Amino acid sequence: MTTASAAGKAILLGEHAVVYGCPAIAVPVSDVRATAEVTTLPTGRGVLINALDLKRCYLLDREYKDDAARPLQCTVRNTLEHLGIALNGCALRIVVNSQIPIARGMGSGTAVSTAIVRALAQHYARHLSPRTVSDLVYRTEVILHGTPSGIDNAVVAFEEPIYFIKGRRPETFFVGKPFTLVIADTGVVSKTRDTVAQVRHKWVSARGYYNALFDEITAAVEEAKRAIASGDLPQLGAMMNHNQSLLQKLQVSSTELERLIKAARRAGALGAKLSGGGKGGCMIALV
Ligand code: MEV
Repeated sequence: MTTASAAGKAILLGEHAVVYGCPAIAVPVSDVRATAEVTTLPTGRGVLINALDLKRCYLLDREYKDDAARPLQCTVRNTLEHLGIALNGCALRIVVNSQIPIARGMGSGTAVSTAIVRALAQHYARHLSPRTVSDLVYRTEVILHGTPSGIDNAVVAFEEPIYFIKGRRPETFFVGKPFTLVIADTGVVSKTRDTVAQVRHKWVSARGYYNALFDEITAAVEEAKRAIASGDLPQLGAMMNHNQSLLQKLQVSSTELERLIKAARRAGALGAKLSGGGKGGCMIALV
């Protein structure tokens, strides 16, 4: 049996604008993880994917109506193909499990795909670079999210804080002083695919207005990167707050998120904002 895992993630600043070519900063959340276990089965049994947290079992070569099957099947198929393993005659059990809350902006789907890619590569004694893992997972992200920027697969595959611009190699950056984040879950399920589509719909109808918001988000991300490098945490918090006000203008916040953000700021957080797609999911606070 071969086991591998992958971390969750949080977008520190720049979500949504990153889909339009603007920069964003993301950090891995290594305390919550998805795992994948691969076992060889007797010949003829086919490839079985057992998603424990969903309480579902899928065969690789069967079609299912359920939304969760396709991303799992695609990840397995693309990875086996990349490793040069013939699907015909392949007999495996892949058990996946995740501690990361689903559809809350913390990258649960990305982490599950990344754990599967890593576990399959290890099972066949192959080393895949973080770049290759990220590229393989991106192909599943397209199914999960429609038009992903690629930031989620990059931060989870590299498992390092990254400064990211779509289509470019992710950059790591200097952190002048360690900082602590509190992550709070609204408990509201929100699919990134839906919020990204809503923003696109608005952008199509008023490009000038939305591009100006994206430019302001870019300036906040750049200033936050400088603040992280110089260890200026109050300035980082201020940029997170500013980013949140711009996300409100993009209409991706929600009553539940605003309530958590207000509570965090009232309790002394230097900055607080939604993280990920928004309209539910998680809030992050710099404490
Ligand atoms: C999701 O974690 C971040 C978004 O910007 C979508 C993306 O970048 O693909 C909302």
